[in-house]
Amino acid sequence: MKAAVFREVNQPMEIEEVQVSKPGPREVLIRTVAAGVCHSDLHFFNGTYPGQLPMVLGHESAGVVEQVGSDVHYVKPGDHVITCLSVFCGHCEYCLTGRMTLCQEPETKRREEEEPRLSDAGKPLTQFANLGSFAEHMLVHEHAVAKIREDMPLDRAALIGCGVTTGVGAVIHTARVEPGSTVAVIGCGGVGLSCINGAAIAGASRVIAVDTVPSKLELARKFGATDVVNAKDTDAVEAVKELTDGGAHYTFEAIGLKATAEQAFNMLRNGGAATIIGMIPPGDMVTLHGVEFLFEKKIQGSFMGSNRFRVDMPRFVDLYLQGKLHLDDMISSHIRLADINDAMKQLETGEIARNVIMFE
Ligand SMILES: NC(=O)c1ccc[n+]([C@@H]2O[C@H](COP(=O)([O-])OP(=O)(O)OC[C@H]3O[C@@H](n4cnc5c(N)ncnc54)[C@H](O)[C@@H]3O)[C@@H](O)[C@H]2O)c1
Ligand SMILES: [Zn+2]
Ligand SMILES: [Zn+2]
Repeated sequence: MKAAVFREVNQPMEIEEVQVSKPGPREVLIRTVAAGVCHSDLHFFNGTYPGQLPMVLGHESAGVVEQVGSDVHYVKPGDHVITCLSVFCGHCEYCLTGRMTLCQEPETKRREEEEPRLSDAGKPLTQFANLGSFAEHMLVHEHAVAKIREDMPLDRAALIGCGVTTGVGAVIHTARVEPGSTVAVIGCGGVGLSCINGAAIAGASRVIAVDTVPSKLELARKFGATDVVNAKDTDAVEAVKELTDGGAHYTFEAIGLKATAEQAFNMLRNGGAATIIGMIPPGDMVTLHGVEFLFEKKIQGSFMGSNRFRVDMPRFVDLYLQGKLHLDDMISSHIRLADINDAMKQLETGEIARNVIMFE
């Protein structure tokens, strides 16, 4: 099968012929139909985060099941699925207390002495996030897929695989935004737009979008932003405080920078909670005024929207089909696998929401 192979940091990926193994007892072979390009792919591609190379990137995808292992009962060939990097074991403390996104059990991966799922001339290729969606097929653990209804278009479904689950989940699961509260979202990419959409669904009275690109702020309004702030020419903290009469109840950072994480905390009202979603570069410290904790301000991380994805994803599909999740507006362009390097470059500009790779 063909895959975009990431061999060297910041060096263009080539489309290569690579080998995919056969499903083990609990594995599923998926024909990839669509894959979104998320900023997390770029963080690894540009070396901000380290990874085991060579690797096949991509982790926001949907496709059709082609083969299943002997012990798989959840899906069968022909089923439509969304993948999720939050692969869960199902029996560790995190899984059993409903925090599956924190599961770290190695049993959902192949052991080192086993044949790798992906390889090139006998040498293993890493599947990014246990998925590796920039490839015609994905061989994954059965606990990395959610089955969905077949009337859901798979390009839209792919977006649910990461950005939507992360953004909507951060709002409804991690922060638990309640109706009538005020929300500010810093960064309006695929993740931030999903936070905005999630806040609108949750019934926030005011949803303030913050970005530095005017076209993104316009787009944010389609997802439910009631107000927009261009942080290029305005002090975002002051602007949000003014719009919310002293600070927002909930703020979300969806970029991955120390400065904007600090802004998210500084624009809270007393008792408010800041949720950091963006991947801040390893080693960067976030600095806060300690006295603010006396006013019961909170700051927390959110990983993949604290999801229970086999429950959440089919619900998100229904919300899209009911017109409440605006996935059509999130797709900037449909591209081909061979366009992957251009898509990575575009992510750096902040101009696009999501490019979605369509496989033949
Ligand atoms: N925690 C998780 O589970 C999780 C999951 C997915 C993605 N992420 C991370 O979330 C972040 C966002 O991902 P994305 O795919 O939406 O990214 P993106 O590149 O599509 O969007 C980022 C947006 O931030 C804006 N921006 C950049 N600098 C800014 C600034 N200083 N002030 C205001 N706006 C600014 C850009 O214009 C752009 O619209 C990334 O760090 C990504 O790695 C985290
Ligand atoms: Zn992602
Ligand atoms: Zn577990």
